Amino acid sequence: MNTPRASDLAIAADIIRKGGLVAMPTETVYGLAADATNDDAVARIFEAKGRPQFNPLIIHVASREMAERHVIFSPLAQKLADAFWPGPLTMVLPRRAQSPISLLVSAGLDTIGVRMPKHDLAHELITDVDGPLAAPSANISGAISPTSADHVKASLGDRVDLVLDGGSCTIGLESTIVFVSGKTASLLRPGGIDRTAIEKAIGKPLAAPAKSDTPQAPGMMKSHYAPRVELYLNQTAPKDGQAFLGFGKNGAGSPFCLNLSPRGDLREAAANLFAYLRQLDALCAEHGLSAIAAAPIPRTGLGEAINDRLSRAAAPRDT
Ligand code: TXA
Ligand code: MG
Repeated sequence: MNTPRASDLAIAADIIRKGGLVAMPTETVYGLAADATNDDAVARIFEAKGRPQFNPLIIHVASREMAERHVIFSPLAQKLADAFWPGPLTMVLPRRAQSPISLLVSAGLDTIGVRMPKHDLAHELITDVDGPLAAPSANISGAISPTSADHVKASLGDRVDLVLDGGSCTIGLESTIVFVSGKTASLLRPGGIDRTAIEKAIGKPLAAPAKSDTPQAPGMMKSHYAPRVELYLNQTAPKDGQAFLGFGKNGAGSPFCLNLSPRGDLREAAANLFAYLRQLDALCAEHGLSAIAAAPIPRTGLGEAINDRLSRAAAPRDT
């Protein structure tokens, strides 16, 4: 891992304060961060990603106190924060009337998605800026999420003012998003914390989200996280002219194969997923292959989020 110098962090904080964009490492994926209270800066995020304006962004905080200035915690939200913050859990909570968070962040909704990343650099940057950072994943809208500084540079190039290099993301999948309303918690997006861990912490099953709680947001659109070539799921071996994304024993010995986890470990597979999709996509371009075939992944634990990302990456594309 490249350890950025203290001066890089100071420069990053300065860029943010002036309304610029910094790619920030987190434990899940790299985020494209801007001052969440600055409308122009937030608009630049949408512009750089080519992201439809109506999709809300999440804010990243360094402490519970910082979060409490902008959203209202019910006892259930407190419980979830106690159990999983800092970490890959985003909670969608009611917005405080006096919060200065840009309305562009919440896309005009009366809720805000908030999380506290578990990453030293992200923590220090937010602390230095002394306010929440809005940050979607640091990639062009619809493309594969970045889990290294090089991925960010390849996707966004000079659309970002600075990339803070924190090495590879340890989780490798975006946060789990839970909508918390009164005594009900519903799962909006599976992610880095699996459903059973959350259900254990709150002592009841997660509800299915109400339609009104689910905006048409990128991570929820059918086609997302997509490589350039076609992707076929639940294959036990590649056909001629295909690369292979293996898991466990499937794929052993195939050419152009990357195995997410030869020992069948879902945590390891999650951490490798986006990087391997990118590598296989590049391999296809280099060797004239037409598609990536992917091995079946169990749906237990983090497998729910991995299958969610894979099925969106394989979905028919609009463009
Ligand atoms: O792990 C992550 O969550 C990464 C890192 C950078 O923190 N961030 C991330 O952000 O994945 P983004 O913008 O790609 O996804 C956040 C999702 C949006 O797609 C949207 O569905 C949901 O959060 N969201 C945000 N605010 C919401 C709100 N007020 N109501 C419902 N959903 C919301
Ligand atoms: Mg994203």
